[in-house]
Amino acid sequence: MKSELRGDYSRAGKDYSVEQNWSSYSGEEHALFQRLFQRQSKLVPRYACAEWIEAIAGLDAGNEIPKFDLISKKLKAKTGWAIVAVPGLIPDDAFFSHLANRRFPVTVWLRKPAEFDYIVEPDVFHDFFGHVPLLFDRVYADHLHEYGKGGLKAMKLDAVKMLARLYWYTIEFGLVRTPAGVRAYGAGLLSSGGELAHCVESPEPRRLNFELERILRTDYQIDRYQTTYFVIDSFAQLMRETAPDFTPIYARLRSSASSAARKPAPAA
Ligand SMILES: [Fe+2]
Repeated sequence: MKSELRGDYSRAGKDYSVEQNWSSYSGEEHALFQRLFQRQSKLVPRYACAEWIEAIAGLDAGNEIPKFDLISKKLKAKTGWAIVAVPGLIPDDAFFSHLANRRFPVTVWLRKPAEFDYIVEPDVFHDFFGHVPLLFDRVYADHLHEYGKGGLKAMKLDAVKMLARLYWYTIEFGLVRTPAGVRAYGAGLLSSGGELAHCVESPEPRRLNFELERILRTDYQIDRYQTTYFVIDSFAQLMRETAPDFTPIYARLRSSASSAARKPAPAA
C-alpha cells in the first residue's frame, strides 16, 4: 500500500475491513454529505441511468452519512450484497476477494469542505452515492460478483492492469444507451459535479460501443475528464460479453503488444 493514503489503516483487519463507527462523524460531516448529495441529486434525473435513479429513491439516504449496516440489510434482501467499511483504497487481492463474496468496500471517511468539487482518493460520498445504488440491480450486482472472481484469476495471470481497464470504463466511467439518449451508470461520473453533465452532453469525448478487447487495451487518465467513454446497451450486454474466459484474450493482447513493440520505428 502506498504510505501517502490518508485513511487510518491501523485498526483494519486482514481483509482491510474496519468498524464504520458511525457515531464518530461530526455534525459538519453529515451536513457536508447532505450538501454533496443535494448537488448531485439535481443532476441525476437528467444524466443518470434509470436503474440508479430507482435504487437511490428507495434508500432515503440524503440527510446524513448512511449507516452501512442498515443499507447492508436492504442489499442482502435484494441481491445478496453487503457493504464492508474500509479505511480507503485497499490492495487488489482484498478488493477482488470482497467483490467475489458479494461485499462492496466503502471508504469510511468523508472529504474536507475544500474538496467539495474534486477529490483524488475515493471517499464515503463517492463510494456510497456512486457505487452502492446499482448493487440493488440484480444483473449489475451479478456482473460485479463475476468481476471480483475474474480479478482473483487475473492476479494469477499477471493481468490485473488489463482487467482494471474494464472496471474503469464500465463500473467507474460507463455510459448506457437509453431511449432518451446516453446516460451514466459509472460511479466516477455519478459522483462528479462536472463530468456527469460533460459525459452526456459534451461533443468533445468519443462515445464508443462497448468492445471488450478494445477496453482491455485502452489506457485511461485518472486526473482529468475522460476523452473516451464506452457505451453499453444494457447490463445484460455487459454480463454477456464479459462472461467468456479472459485467459486467451490476455494472451492475445500481450502478444500483439509485444509484436508492436518489436516493429522498427519509422524513419524520421
Ligand atoms: Fe469508485
